[in-house]
Amino acid sequence: MDKGKPKALVTGGASGMGLATVERLAHDGFAVVLVDRDEVLAQRESNRLQALGLDVQARVVDLTDEAAVRGTVRELPPIAALVNNAGVFDERPFMEVSNDDFRRVYEINLVAAATLTQEVARRMPDGGRIVNIASRAYLGARHHPHYVASKAALVGYTRASAMELAPRGILVNAIAPGLIETPLIRALSADRLAAQLALQPTGTMGRPEDIAHAVSFLVSPRTGFITGQVLFVDGGKSLGGSGA
Ligand SMILES: NC(=O)c1ccc[n+]([C@@H]2O[C@H](COP(=O)([O-])OP(=O)(O)OC[C@H]3O[C@@H](n4cnc5c(N)ncnc54)[C@H](O)[C@@H]3O)[C@@H](O)[C@H]2O)c1
Repeated sequence: MDKGKPKALVTGGASGMGLATVERLAHDGFAVVLVDRDEVLAQRESNRLQALGLDVQARVVDLTDEAAVRGTVRELPPIAALVNNAGVFDERPFMEVSNDDFRRVYEINLVAAATLTQEVARRMPDGGRIVNIASRAYLGARHHPHYVASKAALVGYTRASAMELAPRGILVNAIAPGLIETPLIRALSADRLAAQLALQPTGTMGRPEDIAHAVSFLVSPRTGFITGQVLFVDGGKSLGGSGA
């Protein structure tokens, strides 16, 4: 890890939009710490990116393990850009979602992001950047109330952190992706995927790189005076109609 470069930490960096973000930020000049619980994927992808000459280091951590999360951050140099991207998604009929389902999804989608934000912010340089990957679904969606609620909570936490950290020039924003082609959406049945796409004004899914570029914009030192906001990267789905 190049000591002269600003450091970025991306959670869930071994797959999907997290992986695209790791690669994007490494190209932007960050030394990137890729954090994921999937050891095989994390090693494979960090080796691949290192072979391309990118400054990427993998750390295998289960983000629901608070002691491991805090311990990992303490071992690292100060982080200039934190991307809370790791998340889990599943679909379940409204009446069948259990309290355990809520707790499991909240642990990673909200509590892990809050733990990391707190621990990273202790030593984050003034002017640092935090981006939380929420979801367009936080506006409301069927068949995953626990996921929707966890992402709405993450948006609330984004706004609270933005207020807390603004005096240090640390900007905290959220991105609300629409349907993005990653392994996560395998949880959707073919019928549900088709129904989702039918509501999509563009009629298409987004690419992981669409999210990575939005993160790149929000963490750039050229981007200033934007904090506590939600940037929708969703092909217009949040506009509320199919565009028909
Ligand atoms: N794909 C979509 O359509 C979509 C839409 C809106 C929001 N999102 C959000 O985007 C984020 C990234 O999703 P993706 O689609 O790239 O998914 P993905 O499944 O491809 O990647 C998620 C990564 O997070 C890691 N992860 C999950 N739980 C973890 C834990 N406890 N500790 C450490 N790592 C953990 C996984 O190992 C995986 O590598 C998630 O927060 C998701 O909710 C995705």
